[in-house]
Amino acid sequence: MMTTVGFLGMGAMGSRIAGHILESGHRLRIWNRTASRCEALAARGAIVCNSPALAATGADIVISMVTDDDASKQVWMAPDFGALDAMAPGGIAVESSTLSIGWCKQLSEQAKAQGIDFLEAPVAGSRPQAEAGQLHYLIGGDAQVLEKVHALLTLSAAGIHHIGAHGQGMAMKLAVNALLATQAVALAEVLMLLANEGIARDRSVEVLGAMPVTSAASKAMMAGLLAEAYAPLFPIALVAKDLGYVLNGMPNARVGQVCAATATVYEHALAKGWGNENIHAVAKALLD
Ligand SMILES: NC(=O)c1ccc[n+]([C@@H]2O[C@H](COP(=O)([O-])OP(=O)(O)OC[C@H]3O[C@@H](n4cnc5c(N)ncnc54)[C@H](OP(=O)(O)O)[C@@H]3O)[C@@H](O)[C@H]2O)c1
Repeated sequence: MMTTVGFLGMGAMGSRIAGHILESGHRLRIWNRTASRCEALAARGAIVCNSPALAATGADIVISMVTDDDASKQVWMAPDFGALDAMAPGGIAVESSTLSIGWCKQLSEQAKAQGIDFLEAPVAGSRPQAEAGQLHYLIGGDAQVLEKVHALLTLSAAGIHHIGAHGQGMAMKLAVNALLATQAVALAEVLMLLANEGIARDRSVEVLGAMPVTSAASKAMMAGLLAEAYAPLFPIALVAKDLGYVLNGMPNARVGQVCAATATVYEHALAKGWGNENIHAVAKALLD
């Protein structure tokens, strides 16, 4: 069945997910703060709109994929601009950005108050998985609402996991990113320990990579370090943002000690200007 989809945010992830929607024959209305980022999809038939509200006008489903809480507030709720006011009752709003749990819950309440069904659908996986349609969606919200958008999400998914109520999908997403962010720093630390004893970097990577304690993600990050390849997939600026949201969601400061220590290393990397380098470039922050 052909659906009209409004899509807000043509960044690295959003443009790729929206591309799958367009490819499958749905009508796609797109908006991006920087209009030039809409050009590639416009050339393939997407309708470019001047505001999130216009992208949402006449759409059955509106999906947002933007940087952070502030951007999400803008695209959904800014007066005379945001998408929620323009959606018809019974429409479905899907927030796919990685946001704080608190904001996500607030947004779900606001949507409900306006008669709009809301689903949080953050994704695990990065640009290659988005390109290949192999993301994992971590869903918070009603199962009946998920049912209605399931086919659309499947276009870019290797898995769709219904975690539970609003906030729980986002909590799962932040948990995944916390595990990745802490591993990157732990990995950098142990590689420095080994280098300090004169063990060559490539030998360390080879042996650690053969150990069952080393995750697939750590292996990929070690390969990036060995090659000194730092082009962004999951850039440091986004990791630092997500760690802030993880810490906001912790029950108390004692529970968040590992994430808090990790966050300081990413903050240092940000201050050095490495925000647009890939996650494992955080290793440089230990040397500097
Ligand atoms: N990259 C990854 O590996 C990855 C993986 C999973 C989830 N995520 C999450 O997915 C989301 C998007 O990430 P991305 O990699 O696509 O980032 P990105 O390439 O930097 O794109 C960010 C998007 O947000 C828009 N934006 C930023 N601030 C805004 C504001 N104040 N108002 C309106 N729009 C604003 C940007 O618009 P402009 O073009 O105008 O700047 C752009 O469309 C983030 O929440 C991220 O944490 C990323």
